[in-house]
Amino acid sequence: MASEEPILQTDLERYLPLLARGKVREIYTLDDSKLLFVATDRISAYDCIMKNGVPQKGSLLTKLSARWFEFLKSEIPALHTHFIELSIPDTLKQSVPERLVHQLQDRTMQVRRLKVFPIEAIVRGYVTGSAWKEYTEEGTIHGITVSGPGGRRLQESEKLEKPIYTPSTKAEPGSKDENIHPDQAAEIVGQPYAEQIEKLSLEIYIKASTYALSRGIIIADTKFEFGLDETSDQVVLVDEVLTPDSSRVWPADTYQAGRAQESLDKQYLRGKFSASLDVR
Ligand SMILES: Nc1ncnc2c1ncn2[C@@H]1O[C@H](COP(=O)(O)OP(=O)(O)O)[C@@H](O)[C@H]1O
Ligand SMILES: [Mg+2]
Repeated sequence: MASEEPILQTDLERYLPLLARGKVREIYTLDDSKLLFVATDRISAYDCIMKNGVPQKGSLLTKLSARWFEFLKSEIPALHTHFIELSIPDTLKQSVPERLVHQLQDRTMQVRRLKVFPIEAIVRGYVTGSAWKEYTEEGTIHGITVSGPGGRRLQESEKLEKPIYTPSTKAEPGSKDENIHPDQAAEIVGQPYAEQIEKLSLEIYIKASTYALSRGIIIADTKFEFGLDETSDQVVLVDEVLTPDSSRVWPADTYQAGRAQESLDKQYLRGKFSASLDVR
């Protein structure tokens, strides 16, 4: 049984080269083609890491991502993902102290090492968050003109007629991601990759949100990241997928357009800051 103390940092640097420490994950190099992707119990909002963690959060994120990778692979056979397996490599297990094996348990994924495209591939099925803020001010979402049925104005949290692809920049630590129009994403990553990323993002969102809804859960929006396998020139789904950290998730039974929704993600945490920061 894992401890209830949140794991805020892992200490494997003596055993594996640390490639990067993200807001939530720590990424170690296993070899030229593989990474060890470890989700801590850290929680962040608006790109700030909180002082306190949430016990077992990293384990839950890891299991949810693994489940979605498996689901997506079966639904979209042509999709490439970075997921290899959930286990800790045997050689590592044998060489590190028991305390560190315990730290890694249930929160570790072996993934393919790829060059990550510097955009966040966001898909929105409902208008909420920064998209709602922009819509109320400009009547657009990431510069795209949208309206409700019959051309009327959308209400807060309303379902869009069709999900839309609304990328953002992937900002450097300390600065804020910026919502951009899909044409700007094409300027950043190049037209052929941008097209593949958009098509895959929409396809994944549609499959996943349809499945989630059949289980009583609305995935209002979500963010994907993609990488490039430079040897095969394949666009590959990377990072975490469809977790409550990367998505807005609402219970379907209490959903009602025209107001903010009860949420199953970290919106409650964002809400605590948004009043003082003027963000959503
Ligand atoms: N397969 C991969 N190869 C290399 N980097 C990856 C891969 N998958 C995800 N990443 C990167 O690893 C980091 C994941 O850690 P996370 O804590 O989520 O970071 P962030 O603070 O950037 O959100 C992200 O920066 C993501 O772009
Ligand atoms: Mg992340």
